[in-house]
Amino acid sequence: MKRPITLTVNGTVRSAVVEPRALLVHVLRDDLDLTGTHIGCDTSQCGACTVLIDGLAVKSCTQLAIQCEGQAITTIEGIGTIEDLHPLQTAFWEQHGLQCGFCTPGMILTAADLLARDPDPSETAIRHALEGNYCRCTGYQNIVKAVQAAAAAMRSARAAAAGSRVNEPAVAPARTGQPAGAAV
Ligand code: FES
Ligand code: FES
Repeated sequence: MKRPITLTVNGTVRSAVVEPRALLVHVLRDDLDLTGTHIGCDTSQCGACTVLIDGLAVKSCTQLAIQCEGQAITTIEGIGTIEDLHPLQTAFWEQHGLQCGFCTPGMILTAADLLARDPDPSETAIRHALEGNYCRCTGYQNIVKAVQAAAAAMRSARAAAAGSRVNEPAVAPARTGQPAGAAV
């Protein structure tokens, strides 16, 4: 018998009526129309269905949707936009980290989990993190390069943001003169 569930996906509360046995990947794709999460095997081997659940990369074909109520789910649709790509998306593009693109959403979300835990991973750590994600096209070299490039870009952005905070005045300068628009 179907039952209503509420999932928080990409920061938005979404509702669906699903069978208790429904897998998260099927609910995301079929009920919530988030088809960026792919199905490559349905047997928890390929990683194409990877999403973030409370920040951790999880193969969504291994989770029942009802298990995920109350957790924050992030799919590839929620990590960046066409106008404002996530650094991993930019790096996969620039480093030619994809060919057909079928594995790419899962690769990016797995890498996002890694970089959240380890901002400067070694090549070995990157390969270890991605070992549950299969790619039939690229030979992995450029995927690893893309993750390295994204990690460097994210470290630079953080350093720049920290630098601009250091350069901010501790106390706002005293106002002088009239407020804009004041009658004189
Ligand atoms: S579809 Fe989930 S691991 Fe392949
Ligand atoms: S880019 Fe085709 S499967 Fe990875």
